[in-house]
Amino acid sequence: MSGKTSEISGFYKLTPEERAQIVARFAGLNESDIAEISKTGSLPLELADKLIENVISTVELPVGIAVNFMINGKDYLIPMAIEEASVVAACSNAAKIARASGGFQSTSSDPIMIGQVQLMGCGNFEKVKAVVEGHRDEILDLANSRSRTLSSMNAGARDIVLRKINDPEGSIVLHLKVDVRDAMGANVVNSMCEAVAPFLERITGCRTNLRILSNLTPDRVARSRAKFRKDLIGGEEVVKRIIRSYEMADADPYRAATHNKGIMNGVDAVILATMNDWRSAEANAHTYHNLSGHLSLTRYSEDENGDLVGEIEIPVAVGTVGGSTNTVKKAAIFRKILGVNSSSKFAQVLAAVGLAQNFAALRALSAEGIQKGHMGLHARSLAVSVGAKGSEIDHISEIMVKEGNISMARARDLLESIRQSNS
Ligand code: MEV
Repeated sequence: MSGKTSEISGFYKLTPEERAQIVARFAGLNESDIAEISKTGSLPLELADKLIENVISTVELPVGIAVNFMINGKDYLIPMAIEEASVVAACSNAAKIARASGGFQSTSSDPIMIGQVQLMGCGNFEKVKAVVEGHRDEILDLANSRSRTLSSMNAGARDIVLRKINDPEGSIVLHLKVDVRDAMGANVVNSMCEAVAPFLERITGCRTNLRILSNLTPDRVARSRAKFRKDLIGGEEVVKRIIRSYEMADADPYRAATHNKGIMNGVDAVILATMNDWRSAEANAHTYHNLSGHLSLTRYSEDENGDLVGEIEIPVAVGTVGGSTNTVKKAAIFRKILGVNSSSKFAQVLAAVGLAQNFAALRALSAEGIQKGHMGLHARSLAVSVGAKGSEIDHISEIMVKEGNISMARARDLLESIRQSNS
């Protein structure tokens, strides 16, 4: 028996400082570790403690600005929060190349979310369907009674669809289609699902179980398109190789996972900077192929001049109101920098960022390979992690890249010898 236990009653009632002391005893942290985790940036512990439970600290990520974006004729500076080197640089570079041909053309659908109510023990699907559809207006009214704001905007629950699910229970599911306007929509859709469930039980005689939004949003999608001139990206051969890369991603799930991960490098970083729900964005993007029939979220072709045309279609549910988007000041300021005041404009920007990020990755992979660009940045981050400061960082990373020996040990040796020769 170690004597250590993670069973701590009343942990939630303590202050963040008290919790940190308990965690420190459990994990063997020393005073300086505790001092380190108690440091916060612009998100004060008191506010963090209101956002989630059992808070002891906050984490910080670098926020970089992707430049050069022109979307639908308008210039954007795009805040991106991410720990991975070269994402922001690659995105900016892709935007610069797209800009030479007019930038990105983005569109978005209405912000329709789907809420699901699972009905069990129902029997005949067609009968249940007929009963539910016969009460369509009452169901929609009941759902809309949960949001006066949406109703006053002529939005809210708009339609119902009944589906039969191929699960062991033989569940029937009601889809509630809700126009959530500028919200991400999870809260309002969940409340609507819970509101209609007892009524559905009454009219159908079924039992209800799950009552929750779907994170798959085929009715809430954004599209973007851009041209990348062949003379700016390494010529005809690179254009062809990028198209072959996309075709492979669309045919092979192993490659699709990596290809779409690259897209989400960009999309998530913007979502995170503005404190939207990136887990929902991930789930959405990575299950969309079940409905779209395409493993790859992007596609590429060659136009009549031999230039590369890239397109993306991505389901995206982000809000400019509600959630943590306005509670955390920095997130609100990053959205101000982004300059989007509606969820549909926001989705259009995200589609352009996803396309830019994917093009940048495919171009690097189809030309010099991804490691060349990565290595310089990796070398810099190793230099920083061994304690290099100011000009030492560039000096050490340049030597490591030139030598082709990029490692923590080499960075440490180089730092030592620079400091010795300067002392
Ligand atoms: C790395 O985070 C993302 C890439 O692997 C994406 C891709 O391979 O397309 C470079």
